[in-house]
Amino acid sequence: MNAGVVGIGRYLPNKVVTNFDLEKVMDTSDEWIRTRTGIEERRIAPDEIDTSDMAFEAAKNAIKNAGISAEEIDLILVATVTPDRPFPSISCMLQEKLGAKKAAAMDISAACAGFMYGIVTAKQFIETNVFKYILVVGVEKLSKVTDWNDRNTAVLFGDGAGAAIIGPVSGNRGILSFELGADGTGGKHLYQDEFIIMNGREVFKFAVRQMGESCIHVLEKAGLSKEEVDFFIPHQANIRIMEASRQRLEVPEEKMSKTVNKYGNTSSASIPISLVEELEAGKIKDDDVIVMVGFGGGLTWGAIAIRWGK
Ligand code: COA
Repeated sequence: MNAGVVGIGRYLPNKVVTNFDLEKVMDTSDEWIRTRTGIEERRIAPDEIDTSDMAFEAAKNAIKNAGISAEEIDLILVATVTPDRPFPSISCMLQEKLGAKKAAAMDISAACAGFMYGIVTAKQFIETNVFKYILVVGVEKLSKVTDWNDRNTAVLFGDGAGAAIIGPVSGNRGILSFELGADGTGGKHLYQDEFIIMNGREVFKFAVRQMGESCIHVLEKAGLSKEEVDFFIPHQANIRIMEASRQRLEVPEEKMSKTVNKYGNTSSASIPISLVEELEAGKIKDDDVIVMVGFGGGLTWGAIAIRWGK
């Protein structure tokens, strides 16, 4: 039996902060941010909306979209590096808020690759027939760990949440292959003390190399050629990094998801937010082959190839 995505949902805070807004509070420009990153605006959650609140909204939407009830969920996995507090985990908070009484719950810390780690973990439990429905959420309130005096990082990030219900799917649909990896020696290039600290150039080099390689690896593992890829959803960190991996995969521009311009880098939430956006825009159809790939602090990476549909 194959595991696949049987429901999706997302949540984005209402408040839009444009590059022009940032120009007023720090030494930067819309032109610099757009040309170096592709970002035009991002969403920022107000004080009264914390990470668990955004996770809850995205999770509710995914459960509804899957047509199941919260009581049917066996496991909740929340990928986040910005929980409300160290514990209880966001997943335990969600278990209560959703009334998912039988679900086990834990958070996953793999930064921007967290959603990929969550999906791949969920797949194992479903394909071994241990669990039927698993809620995977990618959620971040990065604005609370952003140093608004550091233009190197402050312009890059945004807040948001995306969620998926992973469950059994029919025929040859579902997750076809995956790759997960980590390189702790690169942890020094991207980490959080009080705020996010980043060596942008090192992260850029790593991302370009690793995203491209992981995409090729999942295709090889699934026995697919580049021509068979119908849609590509890379982690939305920087348009130049995304473009480099798109070219490596040789998929045309219109087949790559691009939401970084509207939401900035929302870390573990960026891939599921993009997935919802592309489905709503009708760009993904049943039986399409989709490659998703993420990378992030740790350093971590993860990719999947999936044949879409229930
Ligand atoms: N506005 C204006 N100037 C800025 C700026 C900003 N917001 N941020 C940095 N600069 C300046 C730098 O201070 C530097 O000035 P200097 O040459 O006088 O020292 C100059 O711009 C060029 O910096 P550089 O590091 O060469 O830019 P870059 O082309 O590498 O782009 C990043 C910087 C951060 C956009 C890019 O390295 C990147 O995207 N890295 C990956 C980051 C990432 O994805 N992180 C999340 C991982 S999940």
